[in-house]
Amino acid sequence: MRESSVLIPEPDLTRFSWQEFTSSWDLAPGIAYLNHGSFGPSPRTVRQARQHWSDELERNPVEFFFRRLDSLFEETAVALGRFVGCRPDNLVFVPNATLAMNIVAQNTPLAAGDEVLLNGHEYGAVIRIWGTHCRQAGARTVLARLPENVNASTSDYVEAIFSRVTPRTRLIVVSQVTSPTALILPVAEICQRARQLGIPVCVDGPHAVAMLPLELDKLGCEFYCASLHKWLSAPFGSGFLYVTPRRKSGLRSSVVSWGRSLSGRDFRWVDEFHWSGTFDPAANLAVPEAIRFLEHVGLDRFRNQCHTLAQYAGWRLQQQFGAIPLATDGTYGTMLTLSLPQVARVEGRPGVPHPLQTRLAEEFQIEVPLVEWQDRMHIRVSCHLYNTPEHIDRLIDALRQLIPA
Ligand SMILES: Cc1ncc(COP(=O)(O)O)c(C=O)c1O
Repeated sequence: MRESSVLIPEPDLTRFSWQEFTSSWDLAPGIAYLNHGSFGPSPRTVRQARQHWSDELERNPVEFFFRRLDSLFEETAVALGRFVGCRPDNLVFVPNATLAMNIVAQNTPLAAGDEVLLNGHEYGAVIRIWGTHCRQAGARTVLARLPENVNASTSDYVEAIFSRVTPRTRLIVVSQVTSPTALILPVAEICQRARQLGIPVCVDGPHAVAMLPLELDKLGCEFYCASLHKWLSAPFGSGFLYVTPRRKSGLRSSVVSWGRSLSGRDFRWVDEFHWSGTFDPAANLAVPEAIRFLEHVGLDRFRNQCHTLAQYAGWRLQQQFGAIPLATDGTYGTMLTLSLPQVARVEGRPGVPHPLQTRLAEEFQIEVPLVEWQDRMHIRVSCHLYNTPEHIDRLIDALRQLIPA
């Protein structure tokens, strides 16, 4: 278990007008949705933009696919590249981070005895992707154990990872913000050290987009995978894979299609991926509207407000239940995980939501994940612009009724 002597201080809630943006979403009436980190709903204007692009497709599909799609993707990549700090031609659009990670795996040749280095905070499906890919080659995954101490320094994290590097390490896979534990990891420092050793890094970044300022071209990773429905609140089915220029040539998709643009223009590396058969690209084409929405709010405002609410959740959970935060102020953003010592794990039901999570949803209309990690139960609270302190208060009241004091 990660140990914490750190108390989350009470935040000043008077700094924000909490209702200002709530009406931009159409969440079910009465719900307290505290799980943007799993599935992030989009504001209305973003869904309207997606609908607009679907409608445009329906007006003349031949014109849309053959004569418009290339330039629409290019314009979208310009907007996204500016937002995540990279040249637009280093990005390829995909429906989600899972597919992006599969592309990286399929394009990472491994031999028997090779190793892919991850750590114990990585997303379960990502660990499975690499486990499957390694097994096929007779290679193996290695899981570094990150520091248990919540006050560990950046160099402690970097050391924990590099202590598991061997001459057979072919790739490091690391989340910029971890899924079960909501920790911000020092990926820039990890990439820098990996470069000195000549080891490529693939960053798993779906939680980092919008939660943190990004400069992908300066990060030093070879690959960066992201879904955009999380903190950017772009539509479900939007995402990207960033590839550093020297790794682009020869990248192959497991879905074999035309391998070229329908417009007939000269081949570009993205063509291998942008056409996997007929599809509706509206989700990705609405990404610029999601960027516009958040920039209109103000990225600092978004980050500060949502971090403050996550802090309020942490403070209240700590006060009421002795919950133990897995991060301190500098290592969490808009979502925070705390261990809940009173809540027992349920043996033998992997992947099934904990009964407490189900009761919170069914009896109190509160969506919040209970996460089993390192054999203990944790609660992960996500906060976006549609959340208010009242949602956190409702969560505390419900937990008071459901778990022993
Ligand atoms: C760290 C991390 N990586 C990858 C994924 C997979 O994202 P998606 O299901 O959108 O492909 C998730 C989803 O929660 C995640 O948290």
